[in-house]
Amino acid sequence: MKEIVEQKSLFCLPWAQTILGTHLEGKANFMALDWLTRVNFSPPMLGICVNKNNASHAAIADTGEFSINVPSVDMVEVTDYTGLVSGKRVDKSGLFEVFYGELKSAPMITDCPITIECRVSQTVDLPTNTFFIADIVNIYSEERFLTDGKPDVTKVRPFVLTMPDNTFWAIGESIGKAWNAGKSLRKQLKQEDDA
Ligand SMILES: Cc1cc2nc3c(=O)[nH]c(=O)nc-3n(C[C@H](O)[C@H](O)[C@H](O)COP(=O)(O)O)c2cc1C
Repeated sequence: MKEIVEQKSLFCLPWAQTILGTHLEGKANFMALDWLTRVNFSPPMLGICVNKNNASHAAIADTGEFSINVPSVDMVEVTDYTGLVSGKRVDKSGLFEVFYGELKSAPMITDCPITIECRVSQTVDLPTNTFFIADIVNIYSEERFLTDGKPDVTKVRPFVLTMPDNTFWAIGESIGKAWNAGKSLRKQLKQEDDA
C-alpha cells in the first residue's frame, strides 16, 4: 500500500552537485547549487533556482551573469562550505583560483573539470526563489577530462546530492546506454503488435 510522504519537498532523486559563481559587488562569490536543469536544446540554455535570501541572488539580479562549476569528488568539503556561509557575511572570493571567459561577471573555478559561463535571458519569480533561465555562452574543460573531445564522466568524477538524507554520492557503475537499452524491448513489442 502506497503511503503519502509527509513533506512534499522530500523526494530522493539525485541532483548534480555544482557551484554557482557570481560577482557580488565586484568580487567573486560562490554557493553550492543543486537546483539546475537544461531547459532548451537549441540554443543551449539552462535554468537554476536560487533562493531570494542568498547573496548570489542579488549578484545575478545585478549583473545578469553567472557561472556553473562542476566539482569533482575530491572537492566535496569546499563545495559544501560554499553552501554553509553567505557572501553577505563571509568573503568567499579567495576560496578558488578563478578565470574568466567572455563574461566579466561569471568567475569560473580553475580546479573544476567543467565550467560553464551563462547569461540570463529570462527570470521566473516564484514565492521564495527565482528561476533564472540563461544562455550557455561557453563551456570550458581540459583535454585530461575529455574522451574523443567530449566530457567523460569517469574523468570528471562529478557527484550528486540526495535528500532527505542530505548525502553526497559519487557516480556508481554504468547500467546501460541511453537511447539504446530499450531497443530490444521496442523490437519485441513491435513484433507482438504486428503479429
Ligand atoms: C549541498 C547544498 C546545495 C544547495 N543548493 C542550493 C540551491 O540549489 N539553490 C539555493 O538557492 N540554495 C542552495 N543551497 C544553499 C546555498 O548554497 C547557501 O544558502 C549559501 O550559503 C548561499 O550563499 P550566498 O549567500 O553567498 O549566495 C545549497 C546548499 C548546500 C549545502
